[in-house]
Amino acid sequence: MSKRDRNHPAVYLDYAATTPVDPEVLEEMLPYFSQHFGNPGSRIHSRGLTAETAVDTARERVASLLGARPLEITFTSGATESNNLALVGVAAAWNYDCDLLISASEHPSVAAVAQGLVDKGVRLQILPVGTDGRVSPGALDKTLETLSHRSHVLVSVMHASNETGVIHPVEEIGALCRRHGAVFHCDASQSVGKIPVKVNEIGADLLSLSAHKFYGPKGVGALYVRRQKPRIPLLAQANGGAQERGLRSGTLNVPGIVGMGVAATVALQRLAPESAELRRLTRLMVACLREHLSGVEVNGSLAHRLPSFLNLSFADVPAERLQQAIRPLAEISAGSACGTGKIGPSPGLLALGLPASRADGAVRIVLGRFTTEDDVHRAIDAIVPAVLQTRRQQTRQDRVRQDRNDRSSLELSRKRRTVGTAVGSQQKMSCGITEALTSSTRGQATLPKYFPASPQGAATTTDPGPFENLTLAK
Ligand SMILES: Cc1ncc(COP(=O)(O)O)c(C=O)c1O
Repeated sequence: MSKRDRNHPAVYLDYAATTPVDPEVLEEMLPYFSQHFGNPGSRIHSRGLTAETAVDTARERVASLLGARPLEITFTSGATESNNLALVGVAAAWNYDCDLLISASEHPSVAAVAQGLVDKGVRLQILPVGTDGRVSPGALDKTLETLSHRSHVLVSVMHASNETGVIHPVEEIGALCRRHGAVFHCDASQSVGKIPVKVNEIGADLLSLSAHKFYGPKGVGALYVRRQKPRIPLLAQANGGAQERGLRSGTLNVPGIVGMGVAATVALQRLAPESAELRRLTRLMVACLREHLSGVEVNGSLAHRLPSFLNLSFADVPAERLQQAIRPLAEISAGSACGTGKIGPSPGLLALGLPASRADGAVRIVLGRFTTEDDVHRAIDAIVPAVLQTRRQQTRQDRVRQDRNDRSSLELSRKRRTVGTAVGSQQKMSCGITEALTSSTRGQATLPKYFPASPQGAATTTDPGPFENLTLAK
């Protein structure tokens, strides 16, 4: 399969946003649109039974990918719905009398829902992340300790960040939750199909996933809900049809569910070789970029990261400008929240403690199943000149801005001097340039004290710098 065609000649490097449907997946889905169109709820005839069997097979496949039991899988419309069902469903089952802890890096489908639950009485706490982008198990342990007198605690920490690809220590988090009697929900939308995700190894009680993140179709996902040891209380949020054992009413999206099942099986088969190849390609990309460019920073932990995922900041290059400059050649995502319609750096990146300028300049580059080494080189060939050119333009703009500032300071100083002379009073120096200019009126130009001294210690310079072309006030 080729990512590039006549309409889309750019290299696609935004596999965290979505992935193309794998041809193998598509092939198995197609008959379920028209030939096997039955409703799995209509068990009274063969078309209904065919559809039901297809859904059962898909459920087994998804369960097998997660090391779960089929009846613990509830199909949904995607991870947004799964996250909503998990958080609201558990909180509602506890009558909203509960504590909810979420990490500072959660996707809006967790963060916004958690915030909404506060209005219903839920006590929300945000777990900070370190500079590596990870929640600290030690800090979580302490927080859970302070809640030991509370009977209902829900913890929601994503497996891998959709912004940085950083992997949280979910096994430790799961073990802590178990020890403290808290329920653990994990949004594994970015990690499923990319690295091993086994609910019992993670210790997840609830786990969200989405088919379109691992080469399945859009509009279909699942929520894993532990059924025993312990059985997780969950109140359905969509009622009426009693599908999915009453947990999620609504006619099932059979072609989508079939596709998700095939995508799960394909992911399981390809996991190891695919992740090894993607790790090689992302390393190659960083090495090549650093060979050609200075100031290339990787945001978030390098050691704990999805193999396909890079979040990079190029010093002095705003993300939006870089993204737009290379768009005809390579499709990447600006790591800021602009994509969601908000202005300013992404809260998820700021949570890492990145300076705003670095968070503002963060781009997300995510490789995938169909990325080739040639694609990586094509992307580098697009990024390097774009970064260099943006930096040159920035420098020119900075110089023009500096000149403009200097001129207006000069203008201001002139006015002040005129006013000062007119009223016969001493004007206090307010900025360096005024001081420097005034000194020069005494003949030998001297520099204000905060200008760096020459190695010999004398504050002199032969470079007129920003004073070039300015006529000094006399
Ligand atoms: C971490 C994470 N959670 C949830 C979602 C929402 O998934 P969906 O598009 O299936 O609703 C996404 C999608 O970007 C995601 O990356």
